[in-house]
Amino acid sequence: MSTYVLGISAFFHDSAAALLRDGEIVAAAQEERFTRKKQDPDFPARAVEYCLEAAGIGPEELDVVAFYEKPFVKFERLLDTFSGNAPSGFPMFREALPEWAERKLDLPRVIRTALGDGFRGRIVFAEHHESHAASAFFPSPYEEAAILTLDAVGEWSTSAIGHGRGSRLELTQEQRFPHSLGMLYSAFTYYTGFKVNSGEYKLMGLAPYGRPLYRDKILENVAEVGDDGALELDMSYFSYLEGVAMTSERFHDLFGGPPRPPESAIGQKEMDLASSIQAVCEEVVLQAADHVHGLTGSKRLVMAGGVALNCVANGRLLREGPFEEIWVQPAAGDAGGALGAALLAWHHMMGEPREVSPRDAQGGSLLGPAYDNESIGLFLDAIGARHHRMDDESELVDRVAEILDSDKVVGWFQGRMEYGPRALGARSIIGDPRSPEMQRTMNLKIKYRESFRPFAPCVLREHVSEVFCTEPDQDWPYMLFVADVQKHLHRTLTDEERVRMEDPDLRIRVSVPRSELPAITHVDYSARVQTVDRERHGRFHRLMERFHERTGCPVVVNTSFNIRGEPIVCSPDDAFRCFMATDMDCLVLENHVLLKEEQPVGLTVDADAYRSQFTLD
Ligand SMILES: [Fe+2]
Repeated sequence: MSTYVLGISAFFHDSAAALLRDGEIVAAAQEERFTRKKQDPDFPARAVEYCLEAAGIGPEELDVVAFYEKPFVKFERLLDTFSGNAPSGFPMFREALPEWAERKLDLPRVIRTALGDGFRGRIVFAEHHESHAASAFFPSPYEEAAILTLDAVGEWSTSAIGHGRGSRLELTQEQRFPHSLGMLYSAFTYYTGFKVNSGEYKLMGLAPYGRPLYRDKILENVAEVGDDGALELDMSYFSYLEGVAMTSERFHDLFGGPPRPPESAIGQKEMDLASSIQAVCEEVVLQAADHVHGLTGSKRLVMAGGVALNCVANGRLLREGPFEEIWVQPAAGDAGGALGAALLAWHHMMGEPREVSPRDAQGGSLLGPAYDNESIGLFLDAIGARHHRMDDESELVDRVAEILDSDKVVGWFQGRMEYGPRALGARSIIGDPRSPEMQRTMNLKIKYRESFRPFAPCVLREHVSEVFCTEPDQDWPYMLFVADVQKHLHRTLTDEERVRMEDPDLRIRVSVPRSELPAITHVDYSARVQTVDRERHGRFHRLMERFHERTGCPVVVNTSFNIRGEPIVCSPDDAFRCFMATDMDCLVLENHVLLKEEQPVGLTVDADAYRSQFTLD
């Protein structure tokens, strides 16, 4: 008889479920992928259903359900914040109260109702940062490692440090709300006109266009950083305690005006602010890492929490910091808390040992649902889509490599869906990085966004250091580190391009090719690298090998299979609709190849109607 532990994160943002069978990760997925609501915070009923199905069990076989945080402690923080800021915090409190009364403070009932009468197991609660820490340490390839978690806030903790060895981990120090690196970064996200909890990565992408002119102003006025990376915020610059907005009038006075209205033009000020807060963030991360290194003496570090998705900071930490190796949980945000809570229950509460996997236990984070060729074929026939089934894989990858080589954009849908915010080659839109037009085409005709961010590269792992400044054979399967494009690939700018690089309009600047691989090279020659290897990535690796043989280029452009504001596609149905609503040229659903030009007119999806379903992120 196997033992099953189900982890759940829910009711903040990005709900998810993860399932362990005898300690091994069987399945994990975010609720948004099923409900098609980006960062769906609701109870992850569909994700739970999927996890049970993947294991072939019913709720009656679950031994333990682990929730990723302690709702009563979190409520205590809410009460405390409210009473400390009364009466200004009252509207926020009044708005939040019914949800707490009905669901969040009655989670055992909510969970038992959702799982049905059959469920007889125990329900346990982990602490938010313990869940993050467990999600970082237990699946990592290390027997022993220092731990650093950083996010906006859990119950009270906003960051924590500790140490893991074998099947145990311990958090020894924490930083408490309202002093929070995640909140500070989000405050600048808000102030520069991006959406909090999703626009942070845009701010990170904007940073290389600016200069850190406001760094000193931030550190002298707003945030004091201790030698140990502890942060003390002057709360008079913020208004998140009152729940009205992130930043206060005092903040606006300090930085010279009100926040940028969302979707309005981005100016040099926003770029300089982005550069400044990114610099502060990197300094805090480096300080905190130094501190935990000093305490533990460990050569390895594991990280999780939303701030650990800052791959620019991660790259710098690896280059400049004291650790030889770093592993970051790919679902570093709260979705990953589901996995962490389950692993914590397994090792700590149930006392089970841990076997360290040399490559890590995350399985490429390909932990979501897969669809077989028969069901895909039936679906395509039922809707009347034209498709070519190619069961000979060599022919299939040949054909797709040829399509990519002719500057076409391909929707690539293979195997199990990714767990975490990044598409890693299972639900990806891919293209040729050498093409000077690729970035623009993908942004405007496929993602429907005007972007200053280049796309991320996937590179054959065996060639990574030829293209990027990394160790040979660097293993980065989760797109969590930034590295520079090798110098010999940089382009020398023409005089005309130099002038364009000074243009206040970012769209002009972004169109200047920086390297031989313009679609993936940022303005500062950096790139957010994912390595693709034979063992984890199967067919995707074979496709990239074929593309390399054909073109001499071991890289493809990879962006998530979705449009702006849409969760990454989960099913063939989602993928087909997104394919038809955009200018994607080709869709590959397992062995089925679909060409846009062959699709019947009746299947066309109106792009505007499709886009209007999703809220801009
Ligand atoms: Fe968190």
